[in-house]
Amino acid sequence: MKRISILLIMTLCHFTIYMNAQTFIRVSTDRTDLIYKVNGKTGRIYQIYLGEKLLDDSEYKNLPANIYNKAVSDRHEAYLCSGTEDYFEPALAVEHNDGNLTTYLKYVSHVVVKKDDNVTQTSINLKDDVYPVEVKLIFETFAKENIIKSRSEIFHSEKKAVKISRYASSLLYFSDAKYFLTEFSGDWAKETNISSQELFYGKKVIDTKLGSRAAMFASPFFQLGLGAPVKETEGQVLAGTLAWTGNFRFTFEVDNLGDLRLISGINPYASSYELDPKTVFQTPEFIFTLSSKGAGQASRDFHSWARNYQLKDGKGERLTLLNNWEATYFDFDEEKLTNLMKDAKDLGVDMFLLDDGWFGNKYPRINDRAGLGDWETTKNKLPDGIPYLVKTAKETGVKFGIWIEPEMINPESELFKNHPDWVIMQPNRETYFFRNQLVLDMSNPDVQDFVFGIVDKIMKENPEIAFFKWDCNSPITNIYSPYLKNRQNNLYINHVRGIYNVFKKVKDKYPDLPMMLCSGGGGRCDYEALKYFTEFWPSDNTDPVERLYIQWGFSQFFSSKSMCAHVTSWNSNTSIKFRTDVAMMCKLGFDIRFNEMNNDEKEYCRQAVASYKRLKTSILDGDLFRLVSPYDGNHTAIMYVDESKNKAVLYAFDINPRYSEKVFPVKLQGLDPTRKYRITEINLMPKQKSSLNVNDKVFTGDYLIKAGIDVFSSSKLQSKVIEITAE
Ligand code: GLA
Repeated sequence: MKRISILLIMTLCHFTIYMNAQTFIRVSTDRTDLIYKVNGKTGRIYQIYLGEKLLDDSEYKNLPANIYNKAVSDRHEAYLCSGTEDYFEPALAVEHNDGNLTTYLKYVSHVVVKKDDNVTQTSINLKDDVYPVEVKLIFETFAKENIIKSRSEIFHSEKKAVKISRYASSLLYFSDAKYFLTEFSGDWAKETNISSQELFYGKKVIDTKLGSRAAMFASPFFQLGLGAPVKETEGQVLAGTLAWTGNFRFTFEVDNLGDLRLISGINPYASSYELDPKTVFQTPEFIFTLSSKGAGQASRDFHSWARNYQLKDGKGERLTLLNNWEATYFDFDEEKLTNLMKDAKDLGVDMFLLDDGWFGNKYPRINDRAGLGDWETTKNKLPDGIPYLVKTAKETGVKFGIWIEPEMINPESELFKNHPDWVIMQPNRETYFFRNQLVLDMSNPDVQDFVFGIVDKIMKENPEIAFFKWDCNSPITNIYSPYLKNRQNNLYINHVRGIYNVFKKVKDKYPDLPMMLCSGGGGRCDYEALKYFTEFWPSDNTDPVERLYIQWGFSQFFSSKSMCAHVTSWNSNTSIKFRTDVAMMCKLGFDIRFNEMNNDEKEYCRQAVASYKRLKTSILDGDLFRLVSPYDGNHTAIMYVDESKNKAVLYAFDINPRYSEKVFPVKLQGLDPTRKYRITEINLMPKQKSSLNVNDKVFTGDYLIKAGIDVFSSSKLQSKVIEITAE
């Protein structure tokens, strides 16, 4: 096997052959081609095609054809540098030791390594012929899922450090009549609001500068409609995301000829990075797919790729849970927690999750003003410590999970008194606090060891802990690292790299430990962090109506398996059924006082949990079809179809219909048209009869796809969950 791949590498390898005008580099999946061509005279390399895969393997060599009515040869430089004859935004900008600001990259070689039947890596080596600066462009393609990862490595051997002020992960060009950008903006508790705009001459930037997380205000992903606005089931859509848990930037620039360039990478804001000689600067991955069937297909490709390759334990099980955060906030003791564990058992969920408020003695965590940093159980609250809670959970018949926020510190903590130099904080200005806390300096290896040690100690003392919720509630404020001294320009980047060192160590040591990524709601929602986490918390807003929109937004990129959704007490205008039906679209949990529900509600919840467990394969591993958008009116519907098309689960919600509003049947998707399916409404309240006129009837997939079924009503805040089973 090894010999075969070595042979393969050798045959696909080219060395310093840019004298040959016919050097093409083809990066492709089963459905997309991204093609580069080397200019035989100059050695510079250009993107000549990005589009649907060309089926005849010999034809791509005819490029650049007149595909866009304009010759694109020698216009779209693959990794454009500052100081050249191109007057638009570059991918790389280097200040050399002599102060020169120009770089020209020339093709040296490229290497294609087929990792297996599905995954191929292509590396293109480029070099400046005046300054000792080298760049490697690295593409990893996932053929079946139609996903391409793109990143770069920057290296130099000048005498002293060079300053790099641009360091894109990816630069892509488009030549279409029109471009439409869909972005996902928001704030705390109002994540992923979807808005679209046409792009005209000039720049549109989506970025954040939060330091310790990617999102809040803007999300690290977008969709680009080529030729027409993004639609769900048709049209060309490029969907892309940056795998980086920090400042990111997407620049969309339409130039004088109406071409669009898209530059994705770390936000260079306050980060003119000082790169030492002979050190490789690795950019994060820009991950994208090009769909010719709208956003729906792009989402399904992202979801299955994430489950197959990126998400921690992407193919594994997920635990349903009862969390105590909204049931108790900081006010709990052993007795309250023991009762909640009993509720978890009664409800039928797998695990009890203990949230914030269990630690700190000199500065006990009785509210969010103290204790962060002191990860010892509060003795007067939990005298028998975590081991007792783990034991009690076990005796009750549920697993035990625990919340931590290890990268953060309250000034009211022993840690702060002992290690003020571990904190990102201004030495000579007034301190600004976000949620009364500060961020530990993760660029400092001692701090990395400390943070790893928190998880390690808890696990060593309690090997039966089944789950961690890892929170991060503050962006970086007061940016200054005592550790980096006169290299403050490197802080934003080295901080995130430090976080990854810790995440990696935790995953290496505890590869099977499920972990939830949380950041004051959905602040951490990027695919690099999700390598180390089984799931993430999309929003602190658990009002089910809001969640319909928030989950719709995140579902554009993230599989239901990775998105936690909890049933809580937010929005008491909605029934327990409505709230649970919404949460059941994702990774289900409860964060509510179960014991305060009436008997019918309790029974409904037990049944819902049981149905969820029975249907988990379709809901968490199936294909998502978004049928009716909540943005389009007063109703919304989605469905999941399992791989074999034997089972599907359909969710329908009436949000705020007008009086006597006309409702239309919903046309299903993803089913096998030739098979017959039985329709059964589930998740009914005790004694509730299905109002569905097709309940328990059988139809062909063809009928369900073309004619559809009536699932909406003109009553407010109604919900239906429908199981669809092949006969
Ligand atoms: C953040 C999280 C919540 C909860 C609190 C605890 O806000 O998003 O789910 O864990 O912290 O302080």
